[in-house]
Amino acid sequence: SAVMAEEAKKLAAYAAVDNHIQNNQVVGVGSGSTIVYAVDRLGKLYCKCVCEGARQLILKHGLSLSDLDRHPELDVAIDGADEVDASLTLIKGGGGCLTQEKIVAGCAKHFIVIADYRKDSKALGQQWKKGVPVEVIPIAYVPVSRAIARRFGGEAVLRMAVSKAGPVVTDNSNFILDWKFEHAQNWKEVNTAIKMIPGVVETGLFVGMAERVYFGMEDGSV
Ligand code: A5P
Repeated sequence: SAVMAEEAKKLAAYAAVDNHIQNNQVVGVGSGSTIVYAVDRLGKLYCKCVCEGARQLILKHGLSLSDLDRHPELDVAIDGADEVDASLTLIKGGGGCLTQEKIVAGCAKHFIVIADYRKDSKALGQQWKKGVPVEVIPIAYVPVSRAIARRFGGEAVLRMAVSKAGPVVTDNSNFILDWKFEHAQNWKEVNTAIKMIPGVVETGLFVGMAERVYFGMEDGSV
């Protein structure tokens, strides 16, 4: 149920903060509904946070905000995910935020992921059929979409805004294609190949980045 999923997010977030984050560290914070619980828990520590997606939340909890100009090296980064497979490859960007999150995760010595049990996936795409988000420069969305479908199968669909007539625009003023792939792939190779298509800014595939993933389970364990 939704209640159990919320509780599971909280359990995962609290465990990850308690196990990986100490006073006086510089912490990268992602976005999404699970990270809210992590910030809640971080509020009892003294840390500096580097975060774009949840700035107001950070300030509300009395934490101090920094940025990659001042802290290009983070002690740890913590973030949610849309899907996690057995080799800790992630799909992210369901909420539209993937490029900044990948930059922040890439700056951290340790990248820790928090999620509820629904995100635990045997093979990417099996559980959730939302595909892989790809952030693109607006003028390139059609050629990029065609290039992805031609080379890797499936289709890459322009993400439309829910409450207005038009595409979703990211924090970086770009568009998002959701690539609905048909079968499992070598995610490392696909990630690199998609990034090489002119106009692609970043993909929501996080390969070889997560060091540890905390899943809150339905039975209350982590
Ligand atoms: C944001 O675009 C995403 O990458 C989120 O980190 C991801 O969607 C997880 O969100 P929830 O914690 O809300 O599931």
